[in-house]
Amino acid sequence: QKQYNSLTDNRANCKCLGDSAVGKSQLLARFARNEFNVDSKATIGVEFQTKTLAIDQKAVKAQIWDTAGQERYRAVTSAYYRGAVGAMLVYDMTKRQSFDHMARWLEELRGHADKNIVIMLIGNKSDLGSLRAVPTEDAQEFAERENLFFMETSALEATNVETAFLTILTDIY
Ligand code: GTP
Ligand code: MG
Repeated sequence: QKQYNSLTDNRANCKCLGDSAVGKSQLLARFARNEFNVDSKATIGVEFQTKTLAIDQKAVKAQIWDTAGQERYRAVTSAYYRGAVGAMLVYDMTKRQSFDHMARWLEELRGHADKNIVIMLIGNKSDLGSLRAVPTEDAQEFAERENLFFMETSALEATNVETAFLTILTDIY
C-alpha cells in the first residue's frame, strides 16, 4: 500500500542537544506524547522517541534522539551522529550559561554530523518570562550568524513545541 511505503521511506533521524536541565526530554515528551513531567529525571546515556507526521502529504517518521546533558552520563561517539538529518540545540532562557554553551554544542555537532544537517536553536522555558536571562535578540543574532533556525518554546505550556519540530522536518522534506 502506498501509504505504508511512504511511511517506511521517510525517516527523519534528529538529535536533541544542550546542557543538563534545559528541558530536552520534556520537549520530546511534549512533542511525541503531549506529556509533561515536572519531576523529570536527568537522562542517562541516550533515548529516543518516534512520531509519525504528515508533511506535504507525505508520512514522515521522526525519530528524535535525546542525549544526556550531564558529561558523566554522556555516552556519545561520532557514530551517534551518523545519519542525522536534523538537530535541536536547546538552552534554558533563564540560564545564561546554557546559552553561552551553545557554541560548544554546535561545534560538537558540526564536527561529527553531515554538513547539510538542519539545525534549530531553541530557547526553552518561555513560560518563565520574568526570569529571562537571554534576550531574544542575542539568540536571533547567534542563529543568523550560524545559519540556524530559532524559536522560543515552553514544553510546560506547549508553546511552539510542535511548530519547532514541524519547521525542522518540513525543511528536511
Ligand atoms: P538532562 O537529561 O540532564 O540533559 O536534562 P534535560 O535537558 O532533558 O531536562 P529535562 O527535560 O529533564 O527538564 C529539566 C527540568 O526543567 C525539569 O524539572 C522539567 O520539569 C523542567 N522543564 C522542562 N521544560 C520546561 C519548561 O518549558 N518550562 C518550565 N518552567 N520548566 C521546564
Ligand atoms: Mg533529559
